[in-house]
Amino acid sequence: MYKNIFDTHAHYDDERFSDDISKVLAELPSAGICGIVNCATDISSCKKSAEIAAEYDYIYFSAGIHPHESSEADDSFIEDIRSFIENKKCVAIGEIGLDYHYDFSPRDIQKDVFEKQIFLAKELDIPVIIHDREAHADIWEILKRYRPKGIVHCFSGSVEMAKDIVGIGMYIGLGGAVTFKNAKKPVEVAKYVPIDRLLLETDCPYMSPVPFRGKRNDSSLIKYTAEFLAEIRNTDTQTLLDKTCENAKIIFSLCE
Ligand code: NI
Repeated sequence: MYKNIFDTHAHYDDERFSDDISKVLAELPSAGICGIVNCATDISSCKKSAEIAAEYDYIYFSAGIHPHESSEADDSFIEDIRSFIENKKCVAIGEIGLDYHYDFSPRDIQKDVFEKQIFLAKELDIPVIIHDREAHADIWEILKRYRPKGIVHCFSGSVEMAKDIVGIGMYIGLGGAVTFKNAKKPVEVAKYVPIDRLLLETDCPYMSPVPFRGKRNDSSLIKYTAEFLAEIRNTDTQTLLDKTCENAKIIFSLCE
């Protein structure tokens, strides 16, 4: 039985949890989960995330507009996010970024909404949770310019980009995708990331690790990702969990 499992990226407000969320969340602490950050994707998701965090001691949340939703953001979105950050359990701005794979919102709008949220994070000195899908060059251009503190989640870039990210003091979040058969680049990154810059995540209900690929993910499955990472990094799983949990508490300012 493992302990100190910190899931830095989850979406329990997703409709795939609507039938059994209370049961799932009640059981996670006994599976060794000590902390979760529920990442919002738009303003209504911020509200739901705040409600979930209010109900469970070990759950925190981030407030932000996902690139998919950026064309839906209205004029008051920055003020809305600012008011969520006053909530004690809001630990980051996220998830924010650029998604050039789906392009659900026009790229100029994605960039505008992303940059406004980066400004806010810099102003308030709060970490960001970054979504980067097939947008590495533009993401790096913006991160290099503003140097926010925070995490690039479900990191899919090269080892060179990981070095750049770590070089400006940010963290790399890895989840189930590293266990996939075709995950050559993520495995190289997973071997490289310095232990004090590594975080674990599920991105649940998506991205279940092998052997549950394709099924609904939840934070209890993070142990499969941790076991895989421990093996390729030549360490033991509990040590990896302890260290990544400590990292999560540092970046989200949760140290007692
Ligand atoms: Ni996500």
